[in-house]
Amino acid sequence: MSPPKSVVVTGASRGIGHAIARRFLAEGWRVITCARAPVPPECRIDPNWASHIVADLANPDSAEDFVAQANAVLNGDPLRALINNAGISPKTPYRERLGVLNGSIDGWKDVFELNFYAPLRLARGFASALHRGKGCIVNITSIAGHYVHPFAGSAYSTSKAALSGLTREMAAEMAQLGVRVNAVAPGEIRTEMISAEYEALVPRIPLERMGTTADVAGTVFQLCSDDFAYVTGSEIFVTGGQHLY
Ligand SMILES: NC(=O)c1ccc[n+]([C@@H]2O[C@H](COP(=O)([O-])OP(=O)(O)OC[C@H]3O[C@@H](n4cnc5c(N)ncnc54)[C@H](OP(=O)(O)O)[C@@H]3O)[C@@H](O)[C@H]2O)c1
Repeated sequence: MSPPKSVVVTGASRGIGHAIARRFLAEGWRVITCARAPVPPECRIDPNWASHIVADLANPDSAEDFVAQANAVLNGDPLRALINNAGISPKTPYRERLGVLNGSIDGWKDVFELNFYAPLRLARGFASALHRGKGCIVNITSIAGHYVHPFAGSAYSTSKAALSGLTREMAAEMAQLGVRVNAVAPGEIRTEMISAEYEALVPRIPLERMGTTADVAGTVFQLCSDDFAYVTGSEIFVTGGQHLY
């Protein structure tokens, strides 16, 4: 019997990552996830949610432990997809976003550790398993990595711009392993990451609504399907058209 299709999803305790995990589960995939918090209890009922590993991916040692534990769960099985979703958009103690002129440089480094270096560490850590699965990586970037955003701070935006660039480089280097690498750039998606002020952006969105976590999860899932077997190094905007202006 062939092993089940397996996917690793980071940052799956809530928001977009949780919706991605649930979408793969609904399609019968075996799902391995991580976050700093446990998954909600009702999700543990699903036998295909093989493992949720508590890890802080902004901590290199914890990220390394996560890779080791997830590879142990795979136990030599191929990995079909890695979804680098976990990310932060933090504020300073004065509730400002980390900008060029405000916030500590160490704060910038923390943002890059999770939003940029963790996807790089995980791509390396799962490269063998992905090679076995002729799998793919989807990096969750952001519209803020491409345009100055009224609310996202510069630390966040530049970390996402860097992740877009890393997607291109990963796609070129990992093609030799038979691994595809793409990015999905959400616009304004209703989750805990965004606050009430974001509602003011709706008139700037051609489809005239905020996005849902299911909008992003569906795009990610389809990108991992065989219908996209010849697509690598691409970034798909899930923005309702907001990136057009
Ligand atoms: N929402 C939007 O409008 C939007 C727009 C563009 C891009 N994005 C991107 O989409 C991704 C998901 O965003 P979201 O809105 O769903 O955010 P969210 O609701 O804040 O969820 C973030 C997830 O990442 C996990 N996480 C945070 N820090 C972590 C760490 N150090 N180690 C491991 N896991 C960690 C969180 O769980 P714990 O707190 O339990 O660790 C949570 O599961 C992010 O990369 C974000 O930049 C979101």
